[in-house]
Amino acid sequence: MSKVKVQAFAMSLDGFGAGPRQSLDNPLGAGGTTLHQWFYPTRTFQHMVGGEGGTTGVDDDFARRSMEGMGAWIMGRNMFGPVRGPWPDDSWKGWWGDNPPYHVPVFVLTHHKRAPVTMQGGTTFHFVNGGIQEALERAREAARAKDVRIGGGVSTVRQYLQAGLVDELHLVVSPTLLGSGEALLAGIDLPQLGFRCTRHVGTDDALHVVLTKEGAP
Ligand SMILES: NC(=O)c1ccc[n+]([C@@H]2O[C@H](COP(=O)([O-])OP(=O)(O)OC[C@H]3O[C@@H](n4cnc5c(N)ncnc54)[C@H](OP(=O)(O)O)[C@@H]3O)[C@@H](O)[C@H]2O)c1
Repeated sequence: MSKVKVQAFAMSLDGFGAGPRQSLDNPLGAGGTTLHQWFYPTRTFQHMVGGEGGTTGVDDDFARRSMEGMGAWIMGRNMFGPVRGPWPDDSWKGWWGDNPPYHVPVFVLTHHKRAPVTMQGGTTFHFVNGGIQEALERAREAARAKDVRIGGGVSTVRQYLQAGLVDELHLVVSPTLLGSGEALLAGIDLPQLGFRCTRHVGTDDALHVVLTKEGAP
Protein backbone atom coordinates (compact mmCIF):
# COMPACT_ATOMS: atom_id res chain seq x y z
CA MET A 1 0.00 0.00 0.00
CA SER A 2 1.22 3.48 -0.74
CA LYS A 3 2.79 5.54 2.04
CA VAL A 4 2.92 9.22 2.89
CA LYS A 5 6.55 10.09 3.41
CA VAL A 6 8.64 13.04 4.48
CA GLN A 7 12.08 12.33 3.06
CA ALA A 8 15.52 13.91 3.30
CA PHE A 9 14.14 16.75 5.39
CA ALA A 10 17.04 18.67 6.90
CA MET A 11 16.89 20.12 10.40
CA SER A 12 19.45 22.17 12.31
CA LEU A 13 20.69 21.08 15.73
CA ASP A 14 18.41 23.69 17.26
CA GLY A 15 15.41 22.34 15.38
CA PHE A 16 14.90 24.66 12.41
CA GLY A 17 14.00 23.46 8.90
CA ALA A 18 14.49 26.88 7.28
CA GLY A 19 16.26 30.05 8.28
CA PRO A 20 14.52 33.39 8.86
CA ARG A 21 13.74 35.99 6.15
CA GLN A 22 13.12 33.77 3.09
CA SER A 23 13.42 35.77 -0.12
CA LEU A 24 14.13 35.51 -3.82
CA ASP A 25 17.86 35.80 -3.09
CA ASN A 26 17.71 33.56 -0.05
CA PRO A 27 15.05 30.89 -0.64
CA LEU A 28 16.11 28.78 2.33
CA GLY A 29 16.16 31.75 4.71
CA ALA A 30 19.29 33.20 6.36
CA GLY A 31 21.78 30.41 6.99
CA GLY A 32 19.46 27.86 5.37
CA THR A 33 22.02 26.50 2.94
CA THR A 34 24.01 25.14 5.91
CA LEU A 35 21.17 22.64 6.40
CA HIS A 36 21.86 20.96 3.09
CA GLN A 37 25.65 20.61 3.05
CA TRP A 38 25.18 16.82 3.28
CA PHE A 39 23.12 16.90 0.04
CA TYR A 40 24.92 19.26 -2.35
CA PRO A 41 28.01 17.07 -2.94
CA THR A 42 26.02 13.88 -3.59
CA ARG A 43 25.79 12.30 -7.00
CA THR A 44 21.99 12.54 -6.76
CA PHE A 45 22.03 16.32 -6.31
CA GLN A 46 24.77 16.83 -8.89
CA HIS A 47 22.76 14.90 -11.50
CA MET A 48 19.64 16.86 -10.53
CA VAL A 49 21.34 20.13 -11.44
CA GLY A 50 22.78 18.75 -14.67
CA GLY A 51 26.26 18.06 -13.31
CA GLU A 52 28.39 14.94 -13.37
CA GLY A 53 30.15 13.00 -10.66
CA GLY A 54 29.33 13.65 -7.04
CA THR A 55 29.82 11.56 -3.93
CA THR A 56 28.47 8.09 -3.38
CA GLY A 57 27.89 6.42 -0.03
CA VAL A 58 25.36 6.82 2.77
CA ASP A 59 24.34 10.44 2.08
CA ASP A 60 23.85 9.71 -1.60
CA ASP A 61 21.96 6.49 -0.88
CA PHE A 62 19.47 8.39 1.26
CA ALA A 63 19.24 11.20 -1.29
CA ARG A 64 18.66 8.82 -4.19
CA ARG A 65 16.06 6.73 -2.36
CA SER A 66 14.22 9.89 -1.32
CA MET A 67 13.42 10.53 -5.00
CA GLU A 68 12.45 6.96 -5.90
CA GLY A 69 8.94 5.51 -6.07
CA MET A 70 7.07 8.78 -5.60
CA GLY A 71 3.77 9.07 -7.47
CA ALA A 72 3.01 12.63 -6.36
CA TRP A 73 4.42 15.41 -4.19
CA ILE A 74 2.81 17.95 -1.90
CA MET A 75 4.49 21.21 -1.01
CA GLY A 76 3.60 24.55 0.57
CA ARG A 77 3.50 27.74 -1.40
CA ASN A 78 6.65 29.07 0.30
CA MET A 79 8.67 26.07 -0.87
CA PHE A 80 7.33 26.64 -4.38
CA GLY A 81 8.60 30.19 -4.48
CA PRO A 82 9.05 33.66 -2.96
CA VAL A 83 5.75 35.14 -4.19
CA ARG A 84 3.36 35.94 -1.33
CA GLY A 85 -0.27 37.05 -1.44
CA PRO A 86 -2.40 36.82 -4.60
CA TRP A 87 -0.45 35.66 -7.67
CA PRO A 88 0.29 38.83 -9.64
CA ASP A 89 0.60 36.78 -12.87
CA ASP A 90 1.63 33.30 -14.02
CA SER A 91 5.30 34.06 -14.50
CA TRP A 92 6.63 32.27 -11.38
CA LYS A 93 6.95 28.54 -12.13
CA GLY A 94 9.11 27.35 -9.25
CA TRP A 95 12.83 27.46 -8.49
CA TRP A 96 13.71 24.49 -10.65
CA GLY A 97 13.71 25.69 -14.28
CA ASP A 98 11.75 24.25 -17.20
CA ASN A 99 12.26 20.61 -16.19
CA PRO A 100 11.82 20.30 -12.40
CA PRO A 101 13.19 17.21 -10.62
CA TYR A 102 9.74 15.85 -9.64
CA HIS A 103 8.48 14.29 -12.92
CA VAL A 104 5.04 13.63 -11.35
CA PRO A 105 2.10 15.80 -10.27
CA VAL A 106 2.95 18.26 -7.49
CA PHE A 107 0.16 19.69 -5.34
CA VAL A 108 0.96 23.15 -3.97
CA LEU A 109 -0.97 24.31 -0.89
CA THR A 110 -2.04 27.92 -1.16
CA HIS A 111 -4.93 30.18 -0.25
CA HIS A 112 -4.68 31.86 -3.66
CA LYS A 113 -6.30 30.42 -6.77
CA ARG A 114 -4.18 29.65 -9.80
CA ALA A 115 -4.51 27.40 -12.87
CA PRO A 116 -2.23 24.34 -13.08
CA VAL A 117 1.20 24.79 -14.65
CA THR A 118 2.59 21.98 -16.82
CA MET A 119 6.34 21.78 -17.01
CA GLN A 120 8.68 19.60 -19.06
CA GLY A 121 9.48 16.06 -17.92
CA GLY A 122 6.11 15.11 -16.40
CA THR A 123 5.85 17.69 -13.62
CA THR A 124 2.55 19.56 -13.31
CA PHE A 125 2.02 22.01 -10.47
CA HIS A 126 -1.58 21.97 -9.20
CA PHE A 127 -2.61 24.71 -6.77
CA VAL A 128 -4.85 23.44 -3.98
CA ASN A 129 -7.01 25.83 -1.96
CA GLY A 130 -8.95 23.28 0.10
CA GLY A 131 -6.29 22.41 2.70
CA ILE A 132 -4.12 19.42 3.53
CA GLN A 133 -6.82 16.74 3.31
CA GLU A 134 -7.86 17.79 -0.17
CA ALA A 135 -4.24 17.95 -1.31
CA LEU A 136 -3.59 14.45 0.04
CA GLU A 137 -6.70 12.99 -1.56
CA ARG A 138 -5.72 14.44 -4.92
CA ALA A 139 -2.10 13.36 -4.52
CA ARG A 140 -3.11 9.79 -3.58
CA GLU A 141 -5.37 9.56 -6.59
CA ALA A 142 -2.64 10.86 -8.88
CA ALA A 143 -0.01 8.60 -7.31
CA ARG A 144 -2.13 5.43 -7.70
CA ALA A 145 -0.20 2.72 -5.86
CA LYS A 146 2.97 4.77 -5.46
CA ASP A 147 4.02 6.84 -2.44
CA VAL A 148 3.19 10.47 -1.77
CA ARG A 149 6.04 12.69 -0.61
CA ILE A 150 5.40 15.69 1.57
CA GLY A 151 8.24 17.80 0.23
CA GLY A 152 8.01 20.73 2.62
CA GLY A 153 8.39 23.36 3.77
CA VAL A 154 8.20 23.41 7.50
CA SER A 155 4.60 24.56 7.93
CA THR A 156 3.39 21.91 5.49
CA VAL A 157 5.30 19.07 7.17
CA ARG A 158 4.05 20.20 10.58
CA GLN A 159 0.43 20.21 9.46
CA TYR A 160 0.63 16.68 8.04
CA LEU A 161 2.42 15.42 11.15
CA GLN A 162 -0.09 17.02 13.49
CA ALA A 163 -2.98 15.54 11.52
CA GLY A 164 -1.45 12.06 11.90
CA LEU A 165 -1.14 11.63 8.14
CA VAL A 166 2.60 10.89 7.81
CA ASP A 167 3.74 7.25 7.80
CA GLU A 168 7.49 7.78 7.65
CA LEU A 169 9.77 10.69 8.44
CA HIS A 170 13.42 10.73 7.37
CA LEU A 171 15.15 13.61 9.09
CA VAL A 172 18.66 14.75 8.31
CA VAL A 173 20.10 16.45 11.35
CA SER A 174 22.78 18.84 10.13
CA PRO A 175 25.58 20.10 12.37
CA THR A 176 24.53 23.74 12.18
CA LEU A 177 22.80 26.23 14.47
CA LEU A 178 20.35 28.70 12.94
CA GLY A 179 19.11 30.43 16.10
CA SER A 180 15.80 31.37 14.50
CA GLY A 181 13.65 30.49 11.51
CA GLU A 182 10.96 27.87 10.99
CA ALA A 183 10.91 25.41 13.92
CA LEU A 184 10.08 21.93 12.66
CA LEU A 185 9.02 19.95 15.71
CA ALA A 186 8.15 22.55 18.36
CA GLY A 187 5.03 21.42 20.19
CA ILE A 188 4.73 18.18 18.20
CA ASP A 189 4.65 15.01 20.30
CA LEU A 190 6.09 12.40 17.93
CA PRO A 191 5.85 9.40 20.31
CA GLN A 192 2.24 10.28 21.02
CA LEU A 193 1.67 10.31 17.25
CA GLY A 194 3.02 6.75 17.16
CA PHE A 195 6.54 7.37 15.83
CA ARG A 196 9.63 5.54 16.90
CA CYS A 197 13.17 5.66 15.61
CA THR A 198 13.76 2.66 13.36
CA ARG A 199 17.13 3.62 11.86
CA HIS A 200 19.93 6.10 12.46
CA VAL A 201 23.18 6.48 10.56
CA GLY A 202 25.87 9.10 11.08
CA THR A 203 28.06 10.44 8.29
CA ASP A 204 30.69 13.19 8.20
CA ASP A 205 28.00 15.74 7.32
CA ALA A 206 24.79 14.63 9.02
CA LEU A 207 22.86 12.22 11.18
CA HIS A 208 20.15 10.42 9.23
CA VAL A 209 17.19 9.42 11.39
CA VAL A 210 14.26 7.38 10.14
CA LEU A 211 11.08 7.61 12.23
CA THR A 212 8.34 5.12 11.43
CA LYS A 213 4.77 5.25 12.57
CA GLU A 214 3.32 2.30 14.41
CA GLY A 215 0.88 0.41 12.17
CA ALA A 216 1.95 2.26 9.01
CA PRO A 217 1.43 0.32 5.76
N1 LIG B 1 14.76 21.55 5.55
C1 LIG B 1 14.40 21.01 4.39
O1 LIG B 1 14.80 19.91 4.01
C2 LIG B 1 13.44 21.78 3.52
C3 LIG B 1 12.69 21.12 2.54
C4 LIG B 1 11.81 21.86 1.79
C5 LIG B 1 11.69 23.23 1.97
N2 LIG B 1 12.43 23.83 2.92
C6 LIG B 1 12.33 25.28 3.17
O2 LIG B 1 11.17 25.56 3.93
C7 LIG B 1 10.84 26.94 3.70
C8 LIG B 1 9.35 27.04 3.45
O3 LIG B 1 8.65 26.57 4.60
P1 LIG B 1 7.48 27.40 5.26
O4 LIG B 1 7.15 26.74 6.56
O5 LIG B 1 7.86 28.86 5.28
O6 LIG B 1 6.28 27.29 4.23
P2 LIG B 1 5.60 26.18 3.33
O7 LIG B 1 5.11 25.05 4.17
O8 LIG B 1 6.44 25.85 2.17
O9 LIG B 1 4.36 27.03 2.77
C9 LIG B 1 3.52 27.71 3.65
C10 LIG B 1 2.48 28.45 2.82
O10 LIG B 1 1.72 27.53 2.05
C11 LIG B 1 0.34 27.87 2.08
N3 LIG B 1 -0.34 26.87 2.89
C12 LIG B 1 0.20 26.06 3.83
N4 LIG B 1 -0.75 25.30 4.38
C13 LIG B 1 -1.91 25.62 3.78
C14 LIG B 1 -3.24 25.18 3.92
N5 LIG B 1 -3.55 24.20 4.81
N6 LIG B 1 -4.20 25.73 3.15
C15 LIG B 1 -3.88 26.68 2.23
N7 LIG B 1 -2.62 27.16 2.06
C16 LIG B 1 -1.66 26.64 2.83
C17 LIG B 1 0.26 29.24 2.72
O11 LIG B 1 0.54 30.20 1.70
P3 LIG B 1 -0.49 31.34 1.18
O12 LIG B 1 -1.44 31.63 2.31
O13 LIG B 1 0.43 32.47 0.86
O14 LIG B 1 -1.13 30.78 -0.02
C18 LIG B 1 1.45 29.20 3.67
O15 LIG B 1 1.92 30.47 4.04
C19 LIG B 1 11.67 27.40 2.52
O16 LIG B 1 12.75 28.18 2.98
C20 LIG B 1 12.17 26.11 1.92
O17 LIG B 1 13.38 26.27 1.25
C21 LIG B 1 13.29 23.15 3.71
